[in-house]
Amino acid sequence: MNDRAGVDRRDFLRYAGTGAAAVLTGAPVLSAAVGERRHSGFAPDLEIELTARQCRVALQAGPATRVWSYQARVIKGDPACVQELPGSYLGPTLWLHRGQRVCIHFVNALDQPSTVHWHGLHVPETMDGHPRFAIHPGASYRYEFEVKNRAGTYWYHPHPHAYTAEQVYFGLAGLLVISDDEEQALPLPRGGHDLPIVIQDRIFGDDNQLHYLPHTGPGGDTAESLDTAGNAGAVVEETQVNDSGSEMPGFPGVTGFFGDTIVVNGRPHAAFDVATSSYRLRLLNASNSRTYRLAWQDGRPLTVIATDGGLLERPVNKDYVMLAPAERIEVWADFSKDTVGSRLAMLSLAFPEATNVMHNSTLAPGARVPLCEFKVAHKTSDRLELPHRLAKIEPLQVEDAVNPDTPKIFNITNDRYVWGINGRSFDMMGVAPEEVVMLGTSEVWEFANSDIPMSHAMHVHDLQFRVLERFHGPYSRSVADGFVDEGWQDTVLVMPGDRVRLLLRFADFPGLFMYHCHMAEHAAAGLMRNFLVQA
Ligand code: C2O
Ligand code: CU
Repeated sequence: MNDRAGVDRRDFLRYAGTGAAAVLTGAPVLSAAVGERRHSGFAPDLEIELTARQCRVALQAGPATRVWSYQARVIKGDPACVQELPGSYLGPTLWLHRGQRVCIHFVNALDQPSTVHWHGLHVPETMDGHPRFAIHPGASYRYEFEVKNRAGTYWYHPHPHAYTAEQVYFGLAGLLVISDDEEQALPLPRGGHDLPIVIQDRIFGDDNQLHYLPHTGPGGDTAESLDTAGNAGAVVEETQVNDSGSEMPGFPGVTGFFGDTIVVNGRPHAAFDVATSSYRLRLLNASNSRTYRLAWQDGRPLTVIATDGGLLERPVNKDYVMLAPAERIEVWADFSKDTVGSRLAMLSLAFPEATNVMHNSTLAPGARVPLCEFKVAHKTSDRLELPHRLAKIEPLQVEDAVNPDTPKIFNITNDRYVWGINGRSFDMMGVAPEEVVMLGTSEVWEFANSDIPMSHAMHVHDLQFRVLERFHGPYSRSVADGFVDEGWQDTVLVMPGDRVRLLLRFADFPGLFMYHCHMAEHAAAGLMRNFLVQA
């Protein structure tokens, strides 16, 4: 077990010298008794026990890799709702249906605080995994919610203060797939033709262990070193500045942490055997900071059928798609004209990323890299026609917003290595005047990225928004064709110099929710705030 004082000191050092030590005044970690309270009258259709714990998994030849991983067990309901990804550290995929009432009994078997956030889901504030509801090691928390979202590909991951980036990096993440009646009526590929593709970047040592920042990750040698005096020294290294006052190369809080090895579904060199048939690929970028420019190796178009918040009105063909951390797209893949024995790679094409000038990895951000491979293994004449119409998407109603012509501006700022929004960094309970919205209203927000030239993946909890307009800076101008703005989204890539205007509706749930950059190290270095939905 870590000694808590040591952990707190680490947090303090993370922010020390930046003027942001105040972020540490914050919510108490809940006791098991509070977390376990039952919410009156909630009768679940599906009840799952979800445990975050340390384990080892054989990911490649050689020693097994120490990871943190979610393990799930169905207590009540259809056992098929929980589907393991074999040989992966990723949590099982949870298959849910709109309207279902779900209870997830989360058990924290880690040696640090945690919560679970249901990324993209529209749930009450106490069910959203906000860091103020973090639970201690050994404690549990009952998440109860009705599935209100459209059919689509969502995901779950930890969200405790100061530990999110590390917990996701060492394996805590899983997909959450929702279906609904509208989607089930469509002739879409199902079963073995409905493939999750979770893309991440990692650094493996020669011993197959994951490398991240000093003194992070699952126990063994790392847990020992956490309790030693070496801790402080190592953290100082992270925040060291040189004489000119600029940060050391690769300072991850400013730039993000970048792996040199791509893993898909938790495995390096991932390959999928496919038939000469149609597939639905559910792509999630679960990387901490790396953005991808997805494309097929042979230049065939990517047929996008869904974004973060579910199906588009109709399929959209793209030469490539930009996928920032936390974003999802679903792709219709048709291998019917491919010959048996052929292989097709999915790549990330090169693109200009400002982070490129300063990072920790041998694989530069924005570098071209193969992601995974599809091997056409057998012939079948079983093939679905791509539907022309997929789903109904409500037309944009900007005039319904309280501020249709005067967007609220959220500037992404950086002050001496601490990120912020309009100059304010994360503060556990803090809400600024412009961060208060009224329940039942819509607003136009604009994320503006004109400070340090680095990309951000801005994510808003509680809802799915629509992108109204993008004003491209020099970086995104060259990849402007790769944005899919036709549907619902919860995360949006804002490249250097960009301004992105969104329409958001705050419905059903009052309370305190978060919005932040999903580049996990940026969020850890302050790029995260609350907004308050006032009843
Ligand atoms: Cu996917 Cu606030 O997170
Ligand atoms: Cu960022």
